[in-house]
Amino acid sequence: MGRKNATSSAKSKEKRMQRKEEQQRISQAMSIIALANQLEDPLADFPVFQNFNKNGISCHLFVKRSSKLSETEKGWIFNLTKKNMQLKYEQCSWGWNDKKKMEELYDERAWFLLAANCIDQSYLAFSHFRFDIDMGIEVLYCYELQLETHVQRKGLGKFMMQVLELMAFKNNMKKVVLTVLKNNPNSKFFKAIGYELDESCPIDDEEETYPYEILSKLNKRLASALPAVNVRNPNHIYDNNQGHSHSNGHCCPGHLH
Ligand SMILES: CC(C)(COP(=O)(O)OP(=O)(O)OC[C@H]1O[C@@H](n2cnc3c(N)ncnc32)[C@H](O)[C@@H]1OP(=O)(O)O)[C@@H](O)C(=O)NCCC(=O)NCCS
Repeated sequence: MGRKNATSSAKSKEKRMQRKEEQQRISQAMSIIALANQLEDPLADFPVFQNFNKNGISCHLFVKRSSKLSETEKGWIFNLTKKNMQLKYEQCSWGWNDKKKMEELYDERAWFLLAANCIDQSYLAFSHFRFDIDMGIEVLYCYELQLETHVQRKGLGKFMMQVLELMAFKNNMKKVVLTVLKNNPNSKFFKAIGYELDESCPIDDEEETYPYEILSKLNKRLASALPAVNVRNPNHIYDNNQGHSHSNGHCCPGHLH
């Protein structure tokens, strides 16, 4: 038996309050995610961003859920990802796995921003993204941004990231987050367009080096509402509603560019 003194009971009350606040925050974040995932078309509010005409590219952009993709679209998405990324995956510790990549791309939570040539309707580029909770925070997670070789370095990638940011911030996501492979020279693209090391990005030490980096761009309108501490434990596997793991290849290849 024991007796709590005034200080210890004040401390446990404070802890209870903190837990309650954290639970409220997570449930609020989950409602925001649920609302975004119920949208018919997150691009509908931005007609100006449904077309890209620059540097010899003339294409229209549209958004589809993975469940609405045709078999042809699925095949093109997978093949382009494989063409652009397989070697980079194989050159780091994770390796490439067709089945895992397909499962991730065709997951029912996946959304796609697609760009199709206005003249012949051929597909030129796509982004796989999700409205999701990452480290307890509502985010738009960009899983892939893949362009066909002949349309690269003409401004389309930057434009598509702007479209993702518009859809994210309009729907109250606190950040756009993505994971880049350090061995991919194209990861410089994200830094060039204003993405910075996310506070949750694991840092190499004597015991472990990480082949990837986590980058993000904050929603400035909501930045003050971010929780003070958001440090990722890279060895922890998060479940789908609480966040993503970026360790040991379990989930990371999914976020890699
Ligand atoms: C990486 C990728 C998405 C960039 O899209 P993009 O349309 O080619 O890039 P943009 O023309 O919009 O580039 C915008 C700016 O980013 C920078 N940038 C783009 N690619 C870069 C690269 N490989 N290295 C350094 N900077 C780069 C440049 O500053 C560029 O401006 P500039 O062309 O005026 O110099 C596209 O090239 C791609 O799909 N590559 C293959 C797949 C891939 O690696 N995807 C994931 C990227 S980590």
